Amino acid sequence: SKPKILVARAVFPEVITRLGQYFDVESNQADETWSKAQLAEKLKGKQGAFTTGSDRIDADVLAACPDLKICANMAVGYNNFDIDAMTEAGVLATNAPDVLTETTADFGFALVMAAARRLTESEHYLRAGKWNKWRYDMFAGSDIHGSTMGIMGMGRIGQGIAKRGAHGFGMKVIYHNRSRLDAALEAECKASYVSKEELLKTADHVVLVVPYSPASHHTIGAAELAMMKPTATLVNIARGGIVDDVALAAALRDKRIAAAGLDVFEGEPKVHPDLLALSNVVLTPHIASATMPTRLAMASLAADNLIAFFEGKVPPSPINAAQLAGK
Ligand code: GLV
Ligand code: GLV
Repeated sequence: SKPKILVARAVFPEVITRLGQYFDVESNQADETWSKAQLAEKLKGKQGAFTTGSDRIDADVLAACPDLKICANMAVGYNNFDIDAMTEAGVLATNAPDVLTETTADFGFALVMAAARRLTESEHYLRAGKWNKWRYDMFAGSDIHGSTMGIMGMGRIGQGIAKRGAHGFGMKVIYHNRSRLDAALEAECKASYVSKEELLKTADHVVLVVPYSPASHHTIGAAELAMMKPTATLVNIARGGIVDDVALAAALRDKRIAAAGLDVFEGEPKVHPDLLALSNVVLTPHIASATMPTRLAMASLAADNLIAFFEGKVPPSPINAAQLAGK
């Protein structure tokens, strides 16, 4: 008989159809929001799971699902997984890298532009019927071309943003990362390595693309915001929790930095009311990878991981394979 899998959220019907050729599939095509206990209940008796960033897989869930062997995340980030607990339980984790890199880099760049040029704020003003005359400083923002962009987290997405800025807009690109890129990659991205402090002090646009971990929690808090230029913009397309949202709202309110663009939030889908109350921040609902072709590629890659695993092949994008092998 076919292995039993759970697809925890609604996804493309064609992906469900394909999975059905290999698996006995239970899917949440109604897209109900499940509690952790409900997710655990649904996972009981399943050997595989197709999850998204909003499905938490931790020791509690795993304890309820002894049959589970693999969770395939339809996201590059996987902070919804407790990898240690999954390894302990003998469960393989996979993610969906690479296929979303350029799409996500496009959106990061869009948020830089939208925040710096006050795109949404000015549109709201126009729609509210407030535009009745020309004024010299009306929605005057800061420049993109020729400015300095500081990228924190220089993985594939960070490199994509760097190339857009350096090659397309003549920006000076500086970056900070746990490890320095090799010289060839630095040259390709036209990016120079600097300390976190130098990046914050000199960048006109700071872009966050670091993965979330306890070590990157509140990478940007009050102290870091205080180092930034008063004219600077901050963009977060990484994860909520990388930025201290309350400290950021205070900095934006007091004009200690000029603007921000945020696609991710602490406690999303809730957004802190202090941020919602401000006009100098562009807020989007975690959509950086959201184009139809890319979302389909991400779902297909998650499916590829499940199919390969149950065929006894090496899945294309495992996370904890080495840890599992060494167990
Ligand atoms: C989206 O945030 C992802 O990690 O793919
Ligand atoms: C992270 O994995 C990235 O692709 O930047």
